[in-house]
Amino acid sequence: MERLQKVIAASGITSRRKAEELIKDGKVKVNGKVITELGTKVNSNDRIEVNNKIIEKEQKEYYLLNKPRGVITSTSDDKNRKTVIELINTNSRIYPVGRLDYDTTGALLLTNDGDFANIIMHPSNNLEKVYLAKLEGIIKGEQINTLKNGIVLDNKKIKPSRVKLKKVDSNTNKSLVEITIHEGLNHQVKRMFESVGFHVEKLTRKQIGFFDIKDLKSGEYRRLTPKEIQKVYSYKDK
Ligand code: URA
Repeated sequence: MERLQKVIAASGITSRRKAEELIKDGKVKVNGKVITELGTKVNSNDRIEVNNKIIEKEQKEYYLLNKPRGVITSTSDDKNRKTVIELINTNSRIYPVGRLDYDTTGALLLTNDGDFANIIMHPSNNLEKVYLAKLEGIIKGEQINTLKNGIVLDNKKIKPSRVKLKKVDSNTNKSLVEITIHEGLNHQVKRMFESVGFHVEKLTRKQIGFFDIKDLKSGEYRRLTPKEIQKVYSYKDK
């Protein structure tokens, strides 16, 4: 049994808040009877009508996007910037799972399945996120070790991260570093490098757990396979 407003919102026709208004306004029927009680529970056999139209269950959709720069990770933007949702060809009310900064590129999952999103985001599932960061300046072994040993951000001890120096270029004075983290704090990677004195010039997320963007060009996306979706759900039972 699920709450009526949740089922209406899950059908994709409107948000949960608007569904509540529709219920209060007497616009919703369950099995032919007008229901105005917000807490009403329904099951999958109940026939739900909104404004005299039967609602259909929205199919769950799952995407992996290689997010380009200059796109906001949100479902809408008050400054009218392009959102990641506009890059995906669907009418479903999908949303991004977690966030990448406006100028960060790479792996981003999108779905309309809240349970799936929670599994990906939940810290106890410990999903590894692999980033490639281009730094201004030449990073030294000592600074890499500081990051590897774990630092404190937002009063939170960040788990030791895997940090690999991929390249240094003394001509341009840049370093390329791969860093693997488990948390998803705001601007985490940029702040981690700032804490050891480096500005991140470019940041790409290569992987979230087993999802890897290596076959996707910037702005390209693909649907997840049933096997991948099942694999994520199997984390829940651990
Ligand atoms: N860390 C950051 O600093 N930015 C991102 O977009 C993701 C992780």
